[in-house]
Amino acid sequence: MWPKKSITAGVVTALAATTALTLVGSAQAQPTTPRADQVTAPGVPAQARTAAPKVGVRTDPSVKTLRQLGDRADLKMGVAVGMDQLHSDATYRHLAATQFSSVTPENVMKWEVTEPQQGKFDFTQADQLVRFAKKHHQIVRGHTLVWHNQLPTWVTEGTFTRAQYRQILRAHIRGEMSHFKGDINEWDVVNEAFDEDGKLRDTLWLRELGPGYIAEAFRYAHKIDPKAKLFYNDYNIEGVNAKSNAVYQMFRQFKADGVPVQGVGLQSHFDIQYPYPPDLLANMQRFADLKVRISVTEADVRMDLPVDPTKAQAQAGAYDALLSSCLLVARCKNFTVWGISDKYSWIPGVFEGQGSALLWDENYQTKPAYDALRRTLAIAGSDRG
Ligand code: G3I
Repeated sequence: MWPKKSITAGVVTALAATTALTLVGSAQAQPTTPRADQVTAPGVPAQARTAAPKVGVRTDPSVKTLRQLGDRADLKMGVAVGMDQLHSDATYRHLAATQFSSVTPENVMKWEVTEPQQGKFDFTQADQLVRFAKKHHQIVRGHTLVWHNQLPTWVTEGTFTRAQYRQILRAHIRGEMSHFKGDINEWDVVNEAFDEDGKLRDTLWLRELGPGYIAEAFRYAHKIDPKAKLFYNDYNIEGVNAKSNAVYQMFRQFKADGVPVQGVGLQSHFDIQYPYPPDLLANMQRFADLKVRISVTEADVRMDLPVDPTKAQAQAGAYDALLSSCLLVARCKNFTVWGISDKYSWIPGVFEGQGSALLWDENYQTKPAYDALRRTLAIAGSDRG
C-alpha cells in the first residue's frame, strides 16, 4: 500500500491523468424531497443477516472487492444503507457487507425517525444498522443531526421561544449522540446550511436561532462525544464556487474561534450532463490545508434515461475523477456512494426521467463505473499486489 501521505510522483501522474481524462459531469440541480411513492415501503421484518446472494453477484474470491482494494489504498469505501432493503434483499445485504467498509444510514438517523415525539427517542432501526456494521467490521457515519428536512411534525416554526428551540436542538444532539457514543466515527452534525450564492440557507434553524446555530451545534456535539469527528456536509461544494467559498470561510472562522469541527462532507451528487468541476482537487486541498478532513459522503452520478454505453462511460469518468481527487489528498479518508443498486436510488423520484446513478443496476449488474473505481483503487494500493 502507498500510505496516502506519501503517494509517489508516479501515482500522482497516473491518477491525475485519469482525472484529466475524465472531467465530465457535475452537480447542478439540487436534491429535493423525493415523491413519497418512489420510496420503498417500510416494515419488512427480520433481522439483518448476510445470506449468500441468489442472483447476479460476483462471488469469485479472487476478484477483490471495493472494500479490499480501498483497504490497501488506505481509504474507507462507504455506502448509504436503506433499512428496508437491508432486511428484505439478500443480494443487497451481501453487497453491503462485502463491498464496503463504512456504512451511512440513508434515513434512520434523521430526526423524524429518531425523535418522532419530543423527548421520546427511537433508535430501533439505527441500532440494527450499527449491529450490522459491527458484525461486518465496518465503521458508521452518522447522518444527520441538524437539518431542515425530515424533521418530525412537532418541530415547527413559531411554536416555541428562542430559548426553547435552543434546548430542543441541544436535547436532540445530546439524546442521539450519547446513544451512539463510541459507535460513530464521523457525524454529519450540520447538513446543507448554505445556499448556492453562499448565503446561509433560510431555514427554521436560521430563523429561530440566528446564524450562530451552526457553531453552537458543533460546540455542543463535541461536548457530548469528544472523540467523534464532526462534519459539515453539503452538496454542490465539490468545486470552487460561491457556496464552497462560504463553507471554506466558515471553516477558517471556526478554526480561528476554536469551534470543534473536524471534517467537510462533499456529498457529490453529480450528473453527466453538467461540466465536472475542474478544481475539485484544489477545493479538497484547500480544506485539507486547514487541517480539515474530507469525506465524499453521498456520491452518485445520474443521467437522462435510457442509459447507453457512452453515458455509462461518462459516468465512469465522473466517479473516477472524484475518487482520484480523493486519493490524491491525504486527508480524504472516506469515499461513500449513496446506495448500492439503482433499484432503490432516490434519483428517479426527484429528477424525472433520470436515473442509473449507482454502481450496480436494478439487476445487480456492475457498470463501467464500478470497474473504473476498482482500477483506480488498485493503482493506489498496488505495491502490495
Ligand atoms: O418514512 C416514511 C414512511 O413512513 C412512509 O410510509 C414512506 C411512504 O412514501 O415514506 C417514508 O419516508 C421517506 C424516506 O425517504 C424514507 O424512505 C420520504 O418520503 C422520502 O422523502 C425520504 O427520502 C430521502 C431524502 O433524503 C429526504 O430528503 C431519501 O431516501 C434519501 O436518499 C435522501 O438523502 C439525502 C441526504 O440525506 C442528504 N443529501 C441529499 C440526499 C438526497 O436527497
